Amino acid sequence: MKTRVSTCGAAFAALLLALPAVAVAQDRITRYADVPQDFEFYPLPPGEGVDEVYYGCIACHSLRTVTNGGYSRAVWDELLDWMVENQGMMEPEPDIRAVMLDYLATYIGEDWEG
Ligand code: HEC
Repeated sequence: MKTRVSTCGAAFAALLLALPAVAVAQDRITRYADVPQDFEFYPLPPGEGVDEVYYGCIACHSLRTVTNGGYSRAVWDELLDWMVENQGMMEPEPDIRAVMLDYLATYIGEDWEG
């Protein structure tokens, strides 16, 4: 009985944790054309980690290079490696890299219209 209750509680907690992520995913901006021009990290769409990507990627090219096309997490992952190995990007700390990849995969994902 005890196990059953705690399993149920854990499932409920997991559901509560998942809810904000679903809300964010639904409210997010999915097209470059919809990003407000007065947004401080324009042309990147708002989202957690936007500042890391903005400052980490603006050193060498326009952020339109980043918002041109949406990619899957796997492709963004490869692009980050490619940027470091072939384009001279300073290797980000692992936790920063994870934040960048989460942002890119979530907010400039495959459904993004650049
Ligand atoms: C040290 C310089 C440097 C930094 C920092 C950098 N890039 Fe790049 N990036 C480049 C160069 C150079 C190219 C163009 C390469 C080419 O196509 O000739 C490029 C091209 C790209 C492209 C286009 C790829 C394609 O298909 O042609 C994307 C997307 C991209 N960068 C994303 C990023 C992201 C995201 C970041 C930040 C995490 C970033 N870059 C940071 C140098 C950099």
